[in-house]
Amino acid sequence: MTKLTDRFGREHDYLRISVTDRCNLRCLYCMPEEGMEFAPSSDLLSYGQIVEVVKAGAELGISKLRITGGEPLVRPGLDGLVRRLAAIPGIRDISLTTNGVLLADQAEALRDAGVNRVNISLDTLDPSRFKFIARRGDLKRVMAGIEASARVGFGPIKLNCVLLKGVNEDEIADFLRMAYEQPLHVRFIEYMPIGHADDNWKAHYLPLSHVLEIAQEQRLEVERIEDMLGNGPSEDYQIRGGKGSFGLIHPISDNFCKNCNRLRLTADGNIKPCLYWVDELSVKSALGNPTALRELYLRAMDIKPLNHEMAAKLLDENLSHEPTARRMSQIGG
Ligand code: GTP
Ligand code: 5AD
Ligand code: SF4
Repeated sequence: MTKLTDRFGREHDYLRISVTDRCNLRCLYCMPEEGMEFAPSSDLLSYGQIVEVVKAGAELGISKLRITGGEPLVRPGLDGLVRRLAAIPGIRDISLTTNGVLLADQAEALRDAGVNRVNISLDTLDPSRFKFIARRGDLKRVMAGIEASARVGFGPIKLNCVLLKGVNEDEIADFLRMAYEQPLHVRFIEYMPIGHADDNWKAHYLPLSHVLEIAQEQRLEVERIEDMLGNGPSEDYQIRGGKGSFGLIHPISDNFCKNCNRLRLTADGNIKPCLYWVDELSVKSALGNPTALRELYLRAMDIKPLNHEMAAKLLDENLSHEPTARRMSQIGG
């Protein structure tokens, strides 16, 4: 049992570390087109401070790390951070979530530094739709990032596709075909009302049962797999005869909080017990004091709630307390 066990008996061994709230894209489900007020660099934890926070976590049983953003690859010298994290006793898996735009240039250095796996956002296979959803960047660069990931041996390569009703739902069959033809793991994700829970969210929310219906329509034979390498909430499926696989991340239609194993560290230095709620614990005053950092982790276990209440938003029910006003890019997904 790790020392990080919460009030509901859930053991925590996984820390998601956001290294920046900035991003080189403006995906319509995540950030306004004009951007937003980013944290000044002076508010961000330095790489040395992140290492210090992770060391304290590793002593309590954190063994798996995921680097996120914003877009983590826009922060200079990320491979240097990874190298330092990989050297911390007890850390045995380091993965990265990225939009892929800058990945082709950095994949090799990141692998050499100690990244084992990457999850790459890919919401469309159509270049002009990419411009509509991501508003910046170029699908070609993302594809180059996926190819580079295969070349340098990251595996399994997971693609994150946030499904938006009326925007990319007509591409489910194409994504399933991609998972059939290529050794990739395509994950469909339900659009979550994080930090911008307005009407727009409800209009675009799509439950993932739709993916299994499309698989059936396409006459794909699918079966559950339990042994996909990963630490997150994805429900994974193999397609009979196919080279790849696919997964469903459905926090709203079927929440997975009972298996929650993770904490988050925001770029501006807050431990976040749950993605959804407002509660955060600042590490800044505890820096330089390993005992105080340890206390913060334990406190996070004490205040961690049983679950999010995103489904209540769909039904216009009252929430039990205050959801975060921060956006996904400010939390790290
Ligand atoms: P692995 O399973 O280790 O490959 O990673 P992951 O799926 O946990 O990480 P990734 O960053 O690729 O996240 C994929 C999607 O799952 C994103 O939309 C995340 O916001 C979402 N997600 C990850 N953890 C949680 C969680 O604790 N709660 C909820 N509601 N969503 C989560
Ligand atoms: N709902 C679901 N997934 C989201 N992501 C970002 N914002 C949302 C949202 N509101 C996804 C990104 C990325 C991952 C970290 O989270 O596409 O793949
Ligand atoms: Fe864990 Fe909160 Fe995510 Fe549920 S929503 S899985 S409790 S972090």
